[in-house]
Amino acid sequence: MSDLRTEVNRRRTFAIISHPDAGKTTLTEKFLLYGGAINLAGSVKGKATARHAVSDWMEIEKERGISVTSSVLQFEYDGFCINILDTPGHQDFSEDTYRTLMAADSAVMVIDASKGVEAQTRKLFKVCSMRGIPIFTFINKLDRDANDTFELLDEVEKELGIATCPINWPIGSGKGFKGVYDRDNQEVVIFSDTEKGTKEGHVERISTSDEERLLAVIGEEAYGKLMDEIELLDGASAEFDLSEVQAGKLTPVFFGSALTNFGVEIFLRNFLMMTTTPLARKADIGVIDPCENDFSAFVFKIQANMNKAHRDRIAFMRICSGKFEAEREVFHMQGNKAMRLSQPQQIMASERKILDEAYAGDIIGVFDPGIFSIGDTICTSKNKFLYDGIPTFAPEHFARVRQVDTMKRKQFMKGVTQIAQEGAIQIFQEFNTGMEEIIVGVVGVLQFEVLKYRLENEYNVEIRLEPLPYEHIRWIESKDIDVAKIVGTSDMKKVKDMRGNPLLLFINSWSVGMTLDRNEGLVLSEFGRE
Ligand code: G4P
Repeated sequence: MSDLRTEVNRRRTFAIISHPDAGKTTLTEKFLLYGGAINLAGSVKGKATARHAVSDWMEIEKERGISVTSSVLQFEYDGFCINILDTPGHQDFSEDTYRTLMAADSAVMVIDASKGVEAQTRKLFKVCSMRGIPIFTFINKLDRDANDTFELLDEVEKELGIATCPINWPIGSGKGFKGVYDRDNQEVVIFSDTEKGTKEGHVERISTSDEERLLAVIGEEAYGKLMDEIELLDGASAEFDLSEVQAGKLTPVFFGSALTNFGVEIFLRNFLMMTTTPLARKADIGVIDPCENDFSAFVFKIQANMNKAHRDRIAFMRICSGKFEAEREVFHMQGNKAMRLSQPQQIMASERKILDEAYAGDIIGVFDPGIFSIGDTICTSKNKFLYDGIPTFAPEHFARVRQVDTMKRKQFMKGVTQIAQEGAIQIFQEFNTGMEEIIVGVVGVLQFEVLKYRLENEYNVEIRLEPLPYEHIRWIESKDIDVAKIVGTSDMKKVKDMRGNPLLLFINSWSVGMTLDRNEGLVLSEFGRE
């Protein structure tokens, strides 16, 4: 048992959330470098032109010649066993990106210092903050001209509604970037560009009490500004409070430059100390402690094979408690069946390997012949329970879908229903009519392409997609409301989902507020219930 506790407690499972181009891939690469998982000697320049067409990690794989195409990267650093969950961005942004966040225990938010809080970061942050998980901020690209530091922090606080506590503080930016001030140790860490080296090389640290040396290295102007800012900061910023951090109410903020590999190790070390061990999770029988219970896991992502010849799928599970042993029988709650997980694999930074054991905090991918659904619980026959389901995330793009050949209605319905069950799309119907009109909602527009491709290739049905202008969807939470009587705005549409739950679609966000005002007792939610 003590072995289990030791293994679980050294695990750190997190996702990196950011807007495309903020530096998530670069930061991940540097983390891997510290973990010794890859060797960056001879940093690769000149990315393939198809850069944005594939997931970021596939890009690293191509460049480095190693296999990192995966949903999770696992590596060791300083006694910790680290699992980084991939949150697909760019065109791959989809519901999977949100679902992956349900498997993380904390999040690292990367912000481009010249851009501030951007759209995708805002969306991903919302999902993390809904779960109350710790969020750590890395403000990146200080080697380029950056926005004012106080303004950046203000933006995080106002736009995201989380208090900030800078752990270090940048001195200048762009050509004038001198390094960061470490508030705890009251010393300045001098900027050095170690892009071409392997790890962070020798980094000079100068105590603020050594005024002479500091002045000589960073210059009078930067020194004067720093002293003013420290004074302001100490008077104005929130006190560091680990319990607030772990409750997701306070974000520790770090500054650095992933590209030049400056501030990355400082960040990683502090992050690993401040973040949480694998979190306990809610189930129907109460909270499941990761160390006190037998093996249990839940499915958070299912990856269908796009290759027609291979209909198999991989189900990704987050282990929430106990130890997974490959030869042991497990129990699939939703299928009500004892089983062995087929070809359990762990996808490491350097290789994909069939694994014999894994612990709470780890992610495993198993071969799925089509039995698992998103949110399913796997546990043991001795200790059965159900984890709380994964919410349905609000689609942001909608289209009316029709089959071109009206004779193929049956195949069409079978196809869209199955693809929706996998969680790749959501389907809706008019609220009061029959099955005639199908509205498809997706989180990322690429899902429309996937739908079209899969219907043609797997179900032999050609479809026509007609984009609809709706951008906001709300589930109706209040049980005693007569949906037919809801008085909405002219841009509002009433629909129902696959389970018959009523929903409202809006073109404008202000219409949501108007509709709430016009209907007493109406409660709307941005997340659907299982
Ligand atoms: P993403 O995964 O968040 O989308 O971002 P990624 O790491 O791919 O970084 C996006 C671009 O920003 C890349 O440049 C990368 O080199 C650059 N970048 C990342 N971190 C820093 C930093 O700390 N400072 C500076 N100056 N740039 C940074 P690119 O031009 O798109 O690619 P590349 O050809 O330079 O590699």
